[in-house]
Amino acid sequence: MSDDLTTEQYWAEAWQRHLETYLGGPPRAGYWLEQRFGKDGSVLELAGGSCRDSRWLADRGAEAIGSDFDEKTLDYLRDRFPQSSLKLRREDSFALSLDDKSVDLSFSNGFWICFDDDERLLKLMREQARVTRKWMIALVHNRGNDRLLRKFARLSKQDSLYDVRFFSPDELTRLIDASGIAYKSISYEKFGGPADVLFNRRPKGIWNPFAGIARHVSPRLYRLQPWRRTERIACIVELA
Ligand SMILES: C[S@@+](CC[C@H](N)C(=O)[O-])C[C@H]1O[C@@H](n2cnc3c(N)ncnc32)[C@H](O)[C@@H]1O
Repeated sequence: MSDDLTTEQYWAEAWQRHLETYLGGPPRAGYWLEQRFGKDGSVLELAGGSCRDSRWLADRGAEAIGSDFDEKTLDYLRDRFPQSSLKLRREDSFALSLDDKSVDLSFSNGFWICFDDDERLLKLMREQARVTRKWMIALVHNRGNDRLLRKFARLSKQDSLYDVRFFSPDELTRLIDASGIAYKSISYEKFGGPADVLFNRRPKGIWNPFAGIARHVSPRLYRLQPWRRTERIACIVELA
């Protein structure tokens, strides 16, 4: 893994290439979070990049903050979504400017995967737990999905964006325990995978009548997928 994925300069440049495509996709994590945790309480998205998911939650009435350290992308998003009720903040996830226990739920999606150094990851976890009252969540790539591992290994030869860390639930538990965070429970849920085909309006050229309701259905179907076909692990820590 290269250190590129942890620098602001790398991301400002990467987002110039990928942001609009990314914004065109469904805010899957936003759908899943709304279904799993409801809309009450405050939400913070860490290292949100496009902040697609926190924007969805904010525009559905949640009190949400989207954060990232990449100022250029945040400026672009402010201009791109002038009507959005999402509060955008420049934040370094290692040193957040928020008070202790100031949000009910915090999450990141595809962020922990940028760190192969355990010590840095432990720091990130502690900082996330510091500002969070109840739910600390991270969506990370699933090491149990061989097909996805092979795909990323192939793609990473062309683009370092795919040179990321995959996790197993056991490894996540070991890391969270090592961080010393006081928690009531840790659970792992399936996120992303074959059930997302419902978001596609014309899979294989055939009209999909369920696309309009996919945001209600797909997050419920994730749990029926086998782990080996599941894209990401939703790591859910209920803080003490
Ligand atoms: C894979 S992207 C996350 C994508 C995001 N979940 C989305 O929906 O667009 C990783 C993000 O982490 C951000 N990042 C990396 N290191 C960071 C740090 N120390 N503090 C805040 N953001 C950081 C990058 O700027 C980038 O936007």
